[in-house]
Amino acid sequence: MQKQLNIALPNAQYPIVIDSEKFDFSALESWLVGKKIMLVSNEVVAPLYLEEVRQCFVNNVVHHCLIGDGETHKNQESWLAILNALAEHQFNRSDVLVSLGGGIVCDITGFAAASWMRGMAFIQVPTTLLSQIDASVGGKTGINHVKGKNMIGAFHQPKAVIINARTLRTLPQREFNAGIGEAIKYAGINQAWFYEWLVTNQQAIKHLDEATLMELITHCCQFKTKIVEEDEKEQGVRALLNLGHTFGHAIETVSQYKYLHGEAVALGMVMAAELSAQLDYCAGDIRKMLENLLQAFELPIMLDIEYSADEILALMKADKKVINDQHRLILLKGMGEAFIAEGVNDANILKAINTCIT
Ligand SMILES: NC(=O)c1ccc[n+]([C@@H]2O[C@H](COP(=O)([O-])OP(=O)(O)OC[C@H]3O[C@@H](n4cnc5c(N)ncnc54)[C@H](O)[C@@H]3O)[C@@H](O)[C@H]2O)c1
Repeated sequence: MQKQLNIALPNAQYPIVIDSEKFDFSALESWLVGKKIMLVSNEVVAPLYLEEVRQCFVNNVVHHCLIGDGETHKNQESWLAILNALAEHQFNRSDVLVSLGGGIVCDITGFAAASWMRGMAFIQVPTTLLSQIDASVGGKTGINHVKGKNMIGAFHQPKAVIINARTLRTLPQREFNAGIGEAIKYAGINQAWFYEWLVTNQQAIKHLDEATLMELITHCCQFKTKIVEEDEKEQGVRALLNLGHTFGHAIETVSQYKYLHGEAVALGMVMAAELSAQLDYCAGDIRKMLENLLQAFELPIMLDIEYSADEILALMKADKKVINDQHRLILLKGMGEAFIAEGVNDANILKAINTCIT
């Protein structure tokens, strides 16, 4: 089974190939002729899929570079390791970087591509649900700074996104569920019907039913494509994709990445729903609806007591989305009715966070 989408931006146009079984680079065949390829992966994904992907490039010179696994490796050292590998093998702007891994490998590889010789081509080959439905699409690349998530980065669009849904069969359950956190986010933004679809199809999703996963991935990529086409550089509607993220990034940082990205986003969405209800934008049952679906996929809805609301708020103030010291949060008027709320005051935010601390 295969589906193909296309994303069309003023300065970039690329395919998103979604296959249920294989890594299919045929859409890029003529473009790849004569190019050197640097595969970037990590110590967990490489033993599973590196050789299979290498076999897709039998007519190219292929090198590889492995970085450490996990969010604590989404840093300057990993980024520099890729640049050093490119330098060692004399890659130039006409060669290609290929990411092979989850959102972390995708984000770092994209940033290395954006920075090497002021920009070289790269292909995203995402292998987690989260990266297949979100991180690999749309050209946001970057690394973390000790002061916060994704503080260093660039917008740089890939040449293609090549998805092989079979890779989800080796993904640990907790990581799979974290990916569902981002799918629920899409439902919260502007697709109430997708909330119902996730409820109805939860058993098929959990059993990795091929057709259901293909539908899930295709739908999410279509949704993200549409938003990115409308607003590539996050001047407007793309900001809605940050539902749960301002809280979520602070939770990731304060917990030193004990919570996975999708788990932190899940908690962030509950906080956003609580804050929305407190400010009378929506009814209290929106929080309950979100919690029910998050819990069905074993995602957290309450934060450990060891983290304080004050610490989280302080980190939220350092977020990229704070403008002139004013919070810019994505809140909800209902399920599927997200909007940008400016200038929400600290006391309300603290109150909402505190209702989510056990
Ligand atoms: N650029 C964007 O637009 C965007 C959007 C959303 C999230 N992100 C970023 O994505 C990152 C999270 O990505 P993630 O959730 O994919 O985490 P991840 O990259 O850490 O991958 C999760 C874990 O699964 C392993 N793994 C990957 N594929 C596997 C497979 N097929 N089988 C077995 N193990 C596998 C990884 O090695 C890792 O241990 C965060 O840093 C977040 O900021 C970026």
